[in-house]
Amino acid sequence: MSQLQGKVAIVTGSSRGLGAMMAFELAQRGANVTIVYTSPKSEAKANELASKIAALSNGSQATVVQADLGVIDAGERIVAATRAAFGDFIDILVNNAGVLFEKPLLETTPEDYAAIFDVNVRGPLLLTKAVVPYLRAPGRIINVSSVGARIGMASLAMYAASKAGLEGMSRCLAAELGDAGHTVNSIEPGPTESDMLDDVPKDLADLQRKMTPVGHRFGRADEVAQVVAWLAGQESGWVSGQAISASGGFLML
Ligand SMILES: NC(=O)c1ccc[n+]([C@@H]2O[C@H](COP(=O)([O-])OP(=O)(O)OC[C@H]3O[C@@H](n4cnc5c(N)ncnc54)[C@H](OP(=O)(O)O)[C@@H]3O)[C@@H](O)[C@H]2O)c1
Repeated sequence: MSQLQGKVAIVTGSSRGLGAMMAFELAQRGANVTIVYTSPKSEAKANELASKIAALSNGSQATVVQADLGVIDAGERIVAATRAAFGDFIDILVNNAGVLFEKPLLETTPEDYAAIFDVNVRGPLLLTKAVVPYLRAPGRIINVSSVGARIGMASLAMYAASKAGLEGMSRCLAAELGDAGHTVNSIEPGPTESDMLDDVPKDLADLQRKMTPVGHRFGRADEVAQVVAWLAGQESGWVSGQAISASGGFLML
């Protein structure tokens, strides 16, 4: 039997990039997966991933939900769709969806702050709140942060603050949900091949690549997905409240 057979997972931002690989890896290990995307142009990609999961023929199924995590009721809609597809228990939540924001301080507006924090912090908070009543012990919550939560990079103050906020939330929820048998952890990818990496200033991305001890290269989504899948599994049960750097040693804690 596959390691995650019979488990139900929600992975936000799984139409493309890191999230798509996380959803596929969890499905390869046997989980049923809710794929969440937001942009109309990503609908086809999300559906393609669902078909790829069905084609695994290992019993894993996927359902696809369109939801903007910056909107207050998104979490409840994602949970309702998951329950409609797979029943009343949820085992794994991966809060992966996030937006990059790169702007110098003097150009940053209150509206920018709301836009990034609503998606990167409030979205995961409200989705987690909607999931917890259905979370079956030992539940696994994995929040996708960034090495940016720990290092200072010019013009990335709001992005870094949102990821540091997500990590603080993870630690407090690890304390709050431990009695129920759940773990909550963060993962900090380093620069990883994806559409988002294409939006990082080239000089900054190149500097990070050069400072990455393992191979002096960018990470791949499948390398980050392996760590997420381990955190989602039984073997990680004694690990909670941690922020794990998956960055080829770029960020050493
Ligand atoms: N790539 C890197 O180098 C890197 C490094 C460190 C941390 N991270 C973190 O890893 C996560 C995934 O990054 P990525 O590189 O895969 O990003 P990406 O290629 O830009 O993909 C972003 C994903 O998030 C979804 N999303 C964006 N805004 C959303 C919203 N308001 N509501 C719902 N879904 C939304 C997108 O959906 P649509 O397809 O519908 O737009 C897409 O599936 C992010 O949290 C990011 O901060 C990435």
